[in-house]
Amino acid sequence: MKNIAVIGSGTMGNGIAHVFAQCGYNVSLIDISADALNKAIATISKNLDRQVAKGTLKEEDKVNTLKNITTFTEMAKGVNGCELVIEAATENPEIKFKLFRDLDAMCPEGVILASNTSSISLTKIGAQTKRSDKVIGMHFMNPVPVMKLVEVIRGYNTSDEVTKTIMDLSKNLGKIPVEVNDYPGFVANRILMPMINEAIYALFEGVGGVEEIDTVMKLGMAHPMGPLQLADFIGLDVCLYIMRVLHDGLGNPKYAPCPLLVNMVTAGKLGVKSGEGFYVYTAGSKDLVVAPSFR
Ligand code: CAA
Repeated sequence: MKNIAVIGSGTMGNGIAHVFAQCGYNVSLIDISADALNKAIATISKNLDRQVAKGTLKEEDKVNTLKNITTFTEMAKGVNGCELVIEAATENPEIKFKLFRDLDAMCPEGVILASNTSSISLTKIGAQTKRSDKVIGMHFMNPVPVMKLVEVIRGYNTSDEVTKTIMDLSKNLGKIPVEVNDYPGFVANRILMPMINEAIYALFEGVGGVEEIDTVMKLGMAHPMGPLQLADFIGLDVCLYIMRVLHDGLGNPKYAPCPLLVNMVTAGKLGVKSGEGFYVYTAGSKDLVVAPSFR
């Protein structure tokens, strides 16, 4: 496999393109917005600069990595000649289902169609196509160039051969793939999101403040970020969406999203991307400042 298409140039899409291109694959990065593609290339370039400054990447490898990425606003042109397509579009089932129907129609039958979905059923995504044996989840973690895990999710019909191809490919990227089955939240979010939700409940019920809860988990459990900071980093809307997938899909009241999380999302407090969640985020500042509502 040499030619990969990545659909969606947001945080996850540009990270996935970065990692493949750095490992020598030809990457077609596809997005409907030319502006988003320009921003994605600028982000990849900035993240490669970080690696050069740290001495973990040579300047010439940065140049070659960027050369390996071609951008497209037309999906049919971008996927032409690719052996694998990885969809990393908005986490919205209808958008993903339509993309997979279109991809199934435009890609030759041997092409593997992967999704970076964090919570949408791969069996449902596969059912949009006539090749559900070749539809698989490749769930990268944010920030993609840093995090070692790829959660490889088998839909009900995904073949052993396709699973092995994707496991081997993930290892070629220097990642550690883990194979899991297609149930709500898979493994990563089945465990992570209830922890985040519980941290929000602890705040809601006054068990501790924002900094106290995060400090307990950072220093007590050696987590790089506390659960509230991590929720801001992931996006509170994404956390709420995944809690609802767990609640609906597993039917157990223990997955009910905390009312505080629901209120914050309704109020537009989405974390880093909106400038405020449990903390406030100011461009250019790395300081963690607790949001006014929680001081
Ligand atoms: N690209 C490349 N390198 C990056 C980077 C990026 N986007 N972001 C950070 N880095 C590198 C830095 O250069 C630095 O490298 P060195 O270790 O070689 O010095 C390293 O990562 C650490 O970065 P910083 O010093 O800037 O910051 P930090 O020490 O606070 O670490 C962090 C930042 C890596 C994000 C760390 O806080 C962390 O691991 N947080 C938890 C992340 C996590 O849990 N991610 C999973 C989220 S869940 C998900 O993605 C799936 C889902 O479905 C919701």
